[in-house]
Amino acid sequence: MCGIIGVVSLPGKTPYRPGVVVFRGLKRLEYRGYDSAGVAAIYNGRLIVLKGKGKIDELERKIGLSSIEGLTVIGHTRWATHGAPSDINAHPHTDCSGSFAVVHNGIIQNYRELKEMLIERGHRFRSATDTEVIPHLVEELYKSTGDVYEAFRRAISMIDGSYAVILISTYEPGKIFFAKKDSPLIIGLGDGFNLLASDIPALLEYTRRIITVRDGWIGYVSPSNVFIEELGRGAIDWSRYIRVVEWSLEDATKSGYPHFMLKEIHEQPRALRETYYGLIDDPAVGEAVKLLLDADKIYVTAAGTSYHAGYYYSLLLAYMAGRISSPFIASEYEVYEKTSGEGDVLIVISQSGETMDSLKALRAFKERGVRVIAVSNVVDSAIPRESDVTIYTRAGPEIGVAATKTFTTQTLALSWLVVSYAEATGKLTRSEAEEYRKWLGSSGDLAARIIASNETYALKLSEWMAGRGNAYYLSRGIGVPVAMEGALKLKEIAYIHAESYPAGESKHGPIALVEPDYPVLFVIPQHRELEKLLLGNIQEMKARGAVIIGVAPEDTVLKDQLDYWFKIPSSHWILTPITHTPPLQLLAYHTAVRRGYDPDKPRNLAKTVTVE
Ligand code: AGP
Repeated sequence: MCGIIGVVSLPGKTPYRPGVVVFRGLKRLEYRGYDSAGVAAIYNGRLIVLKGKGKIDELERKIGLSSIEGLTVIGHTRWATHGAPSDINAHPHTDCSGSFAVVHNGIIQNYRELKEMLIERGHRFRSATDTEVIPHLVEELYKSTGDVYEAFRRAISMIDGSYAVILISTYEPGKIFFAKKDSPLIIGLGDGFNLLASDIPALLEYTRRIITVRDGWIGYVSPSNVFIEELGRGAIDWSRYIRVVEWSLEDATKSGYPHFMLKEIHEQPRALRETYYGLIDDPAVGEAVKLLLDADKIYVTAAGTSYHAGYYYSLLLAYMAGRISSPFIASEYEVYEKTSGEGDVLIVISQSGETMDSLKALRAFKERGVRVIAVSNVVDSAIPRESDVTIYTRAGPEIGVAATKTFTTQTLALSWLVVSYAEATGKLTRSEAEEYRKWLGSSGDLAARIIASNETYALKLSEWMAGRGNAYYLSRGIGVPVAMEGALKLKEIAYIHAESYPAGESKHGPIALVEPDYPVLFVIPQHRELEKLLLGNIQEMKARGAVIIGVAPEDTVLKDQLDYWFKIPSSHWILTPITHTPPLQLLAYHTAVRRGYDPDKPRNLAKTVTVE
C-alpha cells in the first residue's frame, strides 16, 4: 500500500519547514514498503514536484526531497500496482497546465475509459499509472466549474475503485483537498497547520488529535480550518469525530494492533477487494489464459504458503476445467524440469517475487523453452521480471513473516484465472463464469464477516491449543491445501507440530498417532459430497478420543460431530481458501502469543528466502 502525507501551514507554525515535515512523515511510512517516492508543493504561486524511483534517503541525496519550499506540501511513497517502478510513474502526478498535483493510494478501476476520454480532449499523459487520470480530470472539470473543490468533487464522483487521494492546486494554494474510499486516510489537527496522512505514525510527531476519514468523505483542510462532507449527503460536523491517540510510535506503525501479523489478518478484506478490482480488467489474465490454452502440459510451482495456493489452483483447474496440471514444491524442480519442453507452461507463485527456490525452478524451465506465468505481490520483483506474464495480487506489503493476506489474495487471483480459462474452453458458459466472478467479488465482505465473528472464538480456543504438542489438519478435495496452510501457520509461529494430509489417508497410517485429546482440525468446505466423505473421517478420529475442531459453514450437516466449530457464513466452495483460512490464521496467531512467542518474527525464519 502506498504512503501519503500532506501539510498546509501558516508561516512558522510547524516545528520544521513543511518540506521537512513531509520528508520526516514519508520516513515514518517507509515500513509500509515502497519502490519510489516524491513530493510536491505550491511556492510563489507555482507547482514544484520532486520525485523518482528508489528509496527516500537515496532520493534525498539525489534530488533533495526535504528542500522543497512552500507552506502547502504533499508527499507519497509508491507501492506499484499499475505501471512498473520508475521516475515517471512515481507520485505526485500533475495535469497538463501544472495547476494540480495529486498523490493517491488505491486502484482506479475505470481509469482506462477516463484516460481515453481525457486524451480525446487533448490531455497529454506521461505515466503508465491509473492515478494520473485524477489531476487531468480535475483540470478538465475546472474549465467548467472555475472552482477547485467543485471540480475535485465531480472528478471523485466519476471514479470507480478504491482511493485515499489528496490534491493541491495553484488556484487555491492554502488548501489540501482530500477524498477517501477503502484506502486509509487520517487528518491531523495542528495549531496553525493541519495534516493528512495514510497512517498515524506520520502525524504523531506533530499532533495526537486526529480524525479518521470515513469512506465516502470528501473535503479540504487549510491551516486553521477543516471542511468535510459525505458524498451526496452534505457537510458533516467533523468535530464529533476528533479523537486523541495514546499510541506510542511503535504501536502506531501497527495501527494499534499488537503485531503486524494480526494487522495483516485484518487487512484481508481490503486486500481482497483491491486484488479483485485489479483483476477485473487486467490484460495479464487474458494473456495468461491464452498461454494456458496453447499449453501441452501445465506445471505449477512455489514454496511454502504459495505452494498451498498453487496446489489449490491445480485442484480447481481439474474440478472446474477438467484440466490436469502438475504442482510441485519449487526446491524439487529438477525431477519435473526434465519432463518439460517447448509448448509447456509453468505457473510460478511468489508473494515476494524473490524466493530463490522458485526463481531457480523458473530459470530451469525457461531454458527448456517453457513459457512462464507469475503470480506475485511485488511489482517488478525478480520472478515477474523473468516471466512472460504476471498477474499481480494487491495485498500491499506484508511485514509479518507468516503469510496471511498474500495467501488469500493469491487464491483469489488463481481462482479468477481458472474461471477465465474454463470460460475460454467452453467448460463454463458466460453466465456460469459471471456467477463465479460474483462470488469472488464478495470475498472481501465475507472475509470481514468471518474475521469479526471468529476472532474471540480463536482467542478462547487458543487457551486449550497452547497446551497441545501435536495436531492434524485434515480435509478432502479443495479443502486439503487450506488444511495444509493452517498446519503451516501453527508450526511456524506457535512451534506446535502440525501435520496435514488428505483425510482419507488416516487409516493408511497416521491414525496410529491419535489418542484421547489429540487435536484434529477439519476444513469442511461448502460442498455436500465432501461433507459426506468427511463424516467417516471425523468419526474414526472421534472413536479414538480425538478433539474435533471444525472450520465449517453455518449449515453444515456435520455440526453434531464437532467439539469446536469456527462458523463460516454459507457461501460457495470456490471461496474455501478465503473463507476457511482466516480462522486458522487467528487460531495460530493467538496460540503463539499465548505461548509467549512473537508471531511477527518466528525463530529460524525469514520473510523472504533468497537462498537455496
Ligand atoms: C509462509 O507463512 C512463509 N512466509 C513461507 O512459507 C513463504 O510462503 C515462502 O517462503 C514463499 O515465499 P514467497 O511467496 O515470497 O515466494
